[in-house]
Amino acid sequence: MPLHLKRLLLTGIVIISLFLLLKHALTPESFGQYGHYRGNSMNEIAALPIHFVGNNSCVSCHDTIVSMKSEGYHSDLSCEGCHGAGYKHVGDPKMEQLIKPDSREFCAKCHDINLARPEKAVTQKELKEHHSDQKCVKCHNPHQP
Ligand code: HEC
Ligand code: HEC
Ligand code: HEC
Ligand code: HEC
Repeated sequence: MPLHLKRLLLTGIVIISLFLLLKHALTPESFGQYGHYRGNSMNEIAALPIHFVGNNSCVSCHDTIVSMKSEGYHSDLSCEGCHGAGYKHVGDPKMEQLIKPDSREFCAKCHDINLARPEKAVTQKELKEHHSDQKCVKCHNPHQP
């Protein structure tokens, strides 16, 4: 075999061995256990603390508000989207109070004029000119606005 081909072959072998060595050293232990990901990541994700519980978890104690909301304009909103994560509150309602977001700024996040948002998605209003001295919840029930 000519010398330059031998050198090429040798370089090839070195590169491939280096690749295999690094792959062996750098691949996490549980990779490929179930599929093309780390098997251990399943346990790690399952061990994360729970924060959100979903609207159905509020029915047992707040059924009037849940049914009121389901009939109004806000029916598609999640309770926890306004009140914050409810896992702790469901476990101990007296000790773990949720926030009541009754400021104008809170409602304005969705309802103020916003050119970046399609107008069909949420009704936009010039809130600076809409009863600007009073809280929205004085006139609009947040659960059935
Ligand atoms: C096991 C019954 C129970 C469940 C389930 C429950 N709550 Fe409550 N919630 C209560 C009680 C009792 C109070 C009144 C606590 C107080 O005033 O001491 C309360 C109060 C509240 C308040 C008012 C807090 C305040 O400052 O006045 C909000 C808001 C609230 N709950 C939202 C929710 C949401 C959202 C869910 C579902 C994620 C939920 N709750 C699930 C029992 C429950
Ligand atoms: C658009 C935001 C929004 C959503 C969605 C929402 N809430 Fe509220 N909620 C509020 C605000 C604001 C108040 C405070 C009202 C006030 O001070 O007059 C409130 C008050 C409450 C209170 C205190 C009692 C009362 O009537 O003032 C409870 C309990 C409550 N909400 C439960 C719920 C539950 C359960 C859901 C889901 C079915 C829900 N909320 C969905 C904004 C919201
Ligand atoms: C997370 C976004 C969001 C927040 C926060 C929110 N809303 Fe809404 N609101 C909506 C959506 C979505 C609708 C239904 C689509 C529509 O009609 O705009 C709606 C509808 C309404 C309507 C009826 C509009 C119409 O078309 O006649 C009123 C009034 C209203 N909201 C008031 C409030 C008030 C008051 C607050 C604060 C307590 C609030 N909203 C907070 C998303 C939001
Ligand atoms: C003094 C009472 C009052 C207050 C405070 C108030 N509103 Fe209204 N809102 C009304 C009335 C009445 C209407 C229906 C007539 C109109 O469109 O002006 C209305 C209409 C709306 C609509 C529907 C607009 C449409 O064109 O269909 C939205 C959205 C709304 N308000 C959001 C809010 C928000 C968000 C706040 C707080 C930042 C707020 N409102 C404060 C009385 C009030």
